[in-house]
Amino acid sequence: MLKFDNVTFKYDSDDYEMIKGLSFNVQDGEFISLIGASGCGKSTAFRLINGLEKPQSGSITINGTPIKELKNYSSYMPQKDLLYPWRTIEKNVCLPMELRKESKEKMKKAAEEILEEVGLLEYRNKYPRDLSGGMRQRVSFARALLAGANLLLLDEPFSALDSLTRIGLQEWLLTEWEKRKNTILFVTHDVEEAIFLSQKVFVITDRPITHFEEYVVPLDYPRKRDDLKRSDIMELKEELIKKLRQEEVK
Ligand SMILES: Nc1ncnc2c1ncn2[C@@H]1O[C@H](COP(=O)(O)OP(=O)(O)OP(=O)(O)O)[C@@H](O)[C@H]1O
Ligand SMILES: [Mg+2]
Repeated sequence: MLKFDNVTFKYDSDDYEMIKGLSFNVQDGEFISLIGASGCGKSTAFRLINGLEKPQSGSITINGTPIKELKNYSSYMPQKDLLYPWRTIEKNVCLPMELRKESKEKMKKAAEEILEEVGLLEYRNKYPRDLSGGMRQRVSFARALLAGANLLLLDEPFSALDSLTRIGLQEWLLTEWEKRKNTILFVTHDVEEAIFLSQKVFVITDRPITHFEEYVVPLDYPRKRDDLKRSDIMELKEELIKKLRQEEVK
């Protein structure tokens, strides 16, 4: 579905490349986590995927079509929820549809459905400040879904939350994904979170980034937290942590 072919990128203000000759593939409906040391370029990779930055060379395609010829193929959900404080929950969720100039009735119906689904329908006329951090992230996710794209780019969406809320949202996200089978790319610093959620983990181990090291998580869905205690999973976790620490000391 998503394909990077020999992509090289550098920021104008830098004199070194951030990404050099990177190639990878993501299949339709896959759930993939991306981990790597702080500042290694994970958010930059997302900016390339959603077209906010352009590579100097190489190609980025979705189902064979260069992304510059496509619109609305990906939705980005940032670490902070970025909801507009002066808009109600319903109006926040409708924003992408408003930008597409959808009719009022259509927006209302879609917002109702999605808020029902994320369990927040009764909050539709409230404001972001009236909701907890976890609820705001669910609103943010609902908005990303209403943007209508199959490819979801989730950039540390749970990292600002307390650990119990986070665990709840991880389980919730998996249920949503199993229902919809969107393609998800998920950036996290948390190795356990990456393993619990995804089918594959891409690890960034070099700079400039020339490749992702790919690890397959040997677990089926639905998953339980107890699965994390399996010895092969604990070993995988240790191996990934070791990889990340090697990168840190470089
Ligand atoms: N617009 C920009 N112009 C120049 N350099 C940038 C720009 N945005 C980010 N960078 C630099 O690119 C590098 C990678 O940044 P990026 O945000 O992609 O890292 P990251 O892996 O997402 O880090 P973190 O885990 O802390 O979020 C950093 O050194 C950063 O300073
Ligand atoms: Mg980042």
